[in-house]
Amino acid sequence: MMIRPYRWLAQYYDQLFSSFRFPIDTAREEVLAPILPRVQTACDLACGTGTTALIFARKGINMYAVDLSPQMCRLTSEKADRARLPVVVFRADMRSFRLPEAVDLITCEYDALNHIPRRADLRIVANAVHRALRPGGHFYFDVNNARGFCRYWSGTIWFEKPGMAVVMRNGHNRHADRAWSEMDWFIRDGRCWRRHHERVEEVCWKSNEIRRVFKQAGFDHLRAWDATPFFTKNLLIDPGCRTIYLAHKVLG
Ligand SMILES: C[S@@+](CC[C@H](N)C(=O)[O-])C[C@H]1O[C@@H](n2cnc3c(N)ncnc32)[C@H](O)[C@@H]1O
Repeated sequence: MMIRPYRWLAQYYDQLFSSFRFPIDTAREEVLAPILPRVQTACDLACGTGTTALIFARKGINMYAVDLSPQMCRLTSEKADRARLPVVVFRADMRSFRLPEAVDLITCEYDALNHIPRRADLRIVANAVHRALRPGGHFYFDVNNARGFCRYWSGTIWFEKPGMAVVMRNGHNRHADRAWSEMDWFIRDGRCWRRHHERVEEVCWKSNEIRRVFKQAGFDHLRAWDATPFFTKNLLIDPGCRTIYLAHKVLG
């Protein structure tokens, strides 16, 4: 099934979502603290604008960054070039990506895993991640749960920045385990404003589904944390809305 890659959202992603960076960064630092000293190579899957890839590269980790969106890949490469950090960026689908070497750690943050369209895709991503990790390597990811879909994928949100405005009409269908955001972008172009439409969809994964799929793919350990303690300033996120996982690939 075709996925519509981020286009306009890529261009304004850092401006719109910068307030979420702190909890995302804090959760990663805390959960990965025990394993990070042993990580030499890593990949940020669905890397967005490259923020996490650059944080790891600054620590001296050999970094790969993968995203489906050409705009996201370009932004990551530009950020890495500006910071003079050696991040190797690949435009690829998380269902079929391949890396030139097996890595110690793969991260996939900010509910990127909810973006895969079909239920069968979760198994395909788990297998692709397993293939890309060295034995004993880790996969770190977070997901939105059904409760999160109900809490914050509803209603209309309006963001306005100089030269840009976006209206996001959010919705979810509990029975279909899906949530979506219909975005209407108004982008200033000289004296005109141009309107663009974009849709992002998420699929809700149940925790038992995640556990089963990752076990079948060859991960022997899956630890989970509720994300609420990291999102203290976001009143919409309460227990059960988001979960952070760390999966360990069997040593071999
Ligand atoms: C919510 S953003 C998260 C970006 C980044 N991980 C972060 O923490 O800011 C979701 C990202 O997933 C990417 N994406 C969606 N579907 C994908 C797929 N099938 N394969 C790879 N990347 C995908 C999007 O282009 C977007 O950059």
